[in-house]
Amino acid sequence: MRIGLLSVSILAVLAAAPAAWAGEGMWVPQQLPQIAGPLKQAGLRLSPEQLADLTGDPMGAVVALGGCTASFVSPNGLVVTNHHCAYGAIQLNSTPENNLIRDGFNAPTMADEVSAGPNARVFVLDQITDVTADAKAAIAAAGDDALGRSKALEAFEKQLIAGCEAEPGFRCRLYSFSGGNTYRLFKNLEIRDVRLAYAPPGSVGKFGGDIDNWMWPRHTGDFAFYRAYVGKDGKPSAFAADNVPYQPKRWLKIADTPLGEGDFVMVAGYPGSTNRYALAAEFDNTAQWTYPTIAGHFRNQIALVEAAGKQDPQVQVKYASGMASWNNTRKNYEGQLEGFRRIDAAGQKHAEEAAVLAWLKGRGASGADALAAHDKLVALLEQAKATRERDLAVAMFNNTGVLGAATQLYRLSIERAKPNAERESGYQERDLPAIEGGLKQLERRYVASMDRQLQEYWLNEYQKLPANQRVAAVDQWLGGNDAAAVKRALDRLATTALGDTAERLKWFAADRAAFEASKDPAIQYAVAVMPTLLKLEQERKTRAGENLAARPVYLQALADYKNSQGEFVYPDANLSLRITFGNVTGYVPRDGVKHTPFTTLPGVVAKETGADPFDSPKALLEAVAAGRTGGLEDARLGSVPVNFLSDLDITGGNSGSPVLDAQGRLVGLAFDGNWESVASNWVFDPAMTRMISVDQRYMRWIMQEVFPAPQLLREMNAAPAR
Ligand code: ARG
Repeated sequence: MRIGLLSVSILAVLAAAPAAWAGEGMWVPQQLPQIAGPLKQAGLRLSPEQLADLTGDPMGAVVALGGCTASFVSPNGLVVTNHHCAYGAIQLNSTPENNLIRDGFNAPTMADEVSAGPNARVFVLDQITDVTADAKAAIAAAGDDALGRSKALEAFEKQLIAGCEAEPGFRCRLYSFSGGNTYRLFKNLEIRDVRLAYAPPGSVGKFGGDIDNWMWPRHTGDFAFYRAYVGKDGKPSAFAADNVPYQPKRWLKIADTPLGEGDFVMVAGYPGSTNRYALAAEFDNTAQWTYPTIAGHFRNQIALVEAAGKQDPQVQVKYASGMASWNNTRKNYEGQLEGFRRIDAAGQKHAEEAAVLAWLKGRGASGADALAAHDKLVALLEQAKATRERDLAVAMFNNTGVLGAATQLYRLSIERAKPNAERESGYQERDLPAIEGGLKQLERRYVASMDRQLQEYWLNEYQKLPANQRVAAVDQWLGGNDAAAVKRALDRLATTALGDTAERLKWFAADRAAFEASKDPAIQYAVAVMPTLLKLEQERKTRAGENLAARPVYLQALADYKNSQGEFVYPDANLSLRITFGNVTGYVPRDGVKHTPFTTLPGVVAKETGADPFDSPKALLEAVAAGRTGGLEDARLGSVPVNFLSDLDITGGNSGSPVLDAQGRLVGLAFDGNWESVASNWVFDPAMTRMISVDQRYMRWIMQEVFPAPQLLREMNAAPAR
């Protein structure tokens, strides 16, 4: 959020002026005092002090799911998030015969709620601690040794987390901000029994599908409900039939004043990643190579699964979740590329970097370190670029179904031989439940014939690599550089037993020697390539250690430069808690076209084609035709609002975030950005960046009139007064 040359106090004086607030800024909670003026100016009625209480009301109701955001909406642990965030859980519980993706799910009583899967989590924030000084001291102690710096930070992190997690039931995580200028430890209560309580039919929850995804005007009921469960003692526990609903300290209340254009809204959530402070050269690499390349591969994979799905309904159901995420990512990348051209992001990035470098040069000796750091970062990028095709092809091949399991299991056996504190992170005792959960749920996401096609796709890609990017161990395992060698390899892999869950779980406990003696072809592959994978990992860690020295220096200089221009600086998104705020507002996508900020029920019907993804449930069409608005219409719109736009700054990870009004009441859920906004991940565009949310009134309308869940409406105090 750029404030130009005006200071906060001047803005506070201008509070009566019309809100001209472009909502840039993913503020860390520690910045709330700094943004108190702008928050008030945008219309916040709660005191910033109240917001700053992260375990108080309303912030204490906001939770992380790991990749998505959610919030408690009842004292009985009811959690609301997006349908697309619960999609994996909905998919896990679906079969071609009992297809919850298509038909929705509505547990009449708590006893009917189903597990969201062994790896589903609800993280409730307990405490944030600044550990910058200790982290920096640990890194500095390694001196000039780049690999040593990476390892020192890892060791520091493991020790810190072990201390933090000594108290049972908690999960801790270290976050690095601004390239390593600040480190904060988050301590969360980790709820491990998460159940699906309600999901609307897919034709509501994913209405418009991948055609409307990232688009406005939008009409998607992208919401679902989970419930958090704990043991009878109130402490987190793995799924158990006799667990009881968790009683959160805080839960959100549904708004009692209707939201309208211009109103203040804010979002608290866990955005994953932005690159606003990246180097111009990093931007170029992404725009010229990473995005077009990955989007192209995902398109190809999508085509393969689509074709197979036409023959085999198992493929359709088992790959639904993976397909949704490939589709979402490739369309996002394509939107970013289009946006880069529209706003000349490359020109802006290069001009800004040139200005920063010129400013540093003008500072003589005091700018020299940052200039050297910049050069170092450019050189590190060049190193990574030299093997980018190899790194992608090998990682993607190793990540396909059974090979993903084989490489992970063999690595686990290597790490397990070490004392817990010395194991690679991801393979410590604390990580074992997640590994085991992944091994178990693979059976719901795997079809051998499909897996073979994906292996084949990536082996073909591997064979296209130039000679200087080939991996000797893979070449040797392949035993040839032609189609016949690929076919032989695939035939070999097809005899693996790892497609079977019991077999995978057997290997979960096996020791290294057993792997090395195994005749299973997937395991033999893992054993053959592991030494190379470990060597490549060391190289990456060495580069990361160089980064640890250079990145904070350059990013601090960049922040100093921006401050000198009168701009506030906030760190790039990193999956930690952020606050963003602004107002409900439309936008002008192109000359002569204005997008209004609300869509309504007639708009859903207008999109009806009778075919997926524009095939609303019959009950919806009937309710609209009969004029049943259930008391939820907005007089200003003449109907029930469905989705709305606001100028907030969010990105992936914010999905499911509660949207709060000026009083801190729930007015909707963030679920998307518009097509024009996605380029803001690199260069923020205030004119076009809009958040797309589902209005709480549409959620209630669906739960009253279309796929009724009176029990949940009552639980949220939102039952209709009739
Ligand atoms: N674009 C949304 C996001 O990244 C995800 C929407 C999922 N829906 C879909 N039709 N793929 O937050």
